Amino acid sequence: MKKYKKKYLQIAIDSPAAAGAGTQAKLIAKHYNLLYLDSGKIYRFLAYLKIKNLKKFNYSFISKKIKTLKMSDLQNKKLLSENVGSVASIIAKDIKIRNLAHDFQMKCAFDPPKKYEGSIIDGRDITYNIMPQADCKFFITASVKTRALRRFKELKGLNKKILLNEVLKSIKKRDKSDYNRKVSPLKRTKDQYLISSENESKRSCFLKIKQIIDRKINT
Ligand code: CDP
Repeated sequence: MKKYKKKYLQIAIDSPAAAGAGTQAKLIAKHYNLLYLDSGKIYRFLAYLKIKNLKKFNYSFISKKIKTLKMSDLQNKKLLSENVGSVASIIAKDIKIRNLAHDFQMKCAFDPPKKYEGSIIDGRDITYNIMPQADCKFFITASVKTRALRRFKELKGLNKKILLNEVLKSIKKRDKSDYNRKVSPLKRTKDQYLISSENESKRSCFLKIKQIIDRKINT
């Protein structure tokens, strides 16, 4: 595995599904000029491949796909469905698949294109596994009902046919799997700043995070 040296600002965020981590990560990336990677999209990308190529979906197939993976592949709107999210959380339990996804994440963390001042990654195991040396680590969360409602609205905005109750059920199932799996579970650690997005606007949440990062940069 390639060795990487830290040269830039690194921000790591972990969060359960639909807690607003992606929204905050994008705002932070823009403000500090950082490369943003939504690591969940890698698992969603693989989940989508699995759904489409059930018979071909083995480790060598996955390895090839990851080697040629581009950031633009992760923008595909088809990755956003709750079904793809559910399949993603199942394949994300597989340590071999996680290892295959590792290098892509390391490259984003340690080798962002020159135009950026660093990188920000969000996911489930970023703060303690992918970027344990990050300058600032956050755990963003909200109640499961709030998260389900937010995801429901997002999916409706994308014209997806789904009921709030189905979204709630799916998110609860993913929470259970993501927190309790053996490999790289979602977890709270002492060095993460806890940010609740429950009753916060996007802006006020961002300002809280920004204050923490600015304090860190200035010390
Ligand atoms: O967008 P949302 O919060 O719904 O989830 P996501 O970030 O797109 O992640 C989809 C699934 O991928 C999660 O439920 C996790 O099981 C898995 N995942 C993971 O295992 N490790 C990560 N670093 C990111 C996502």
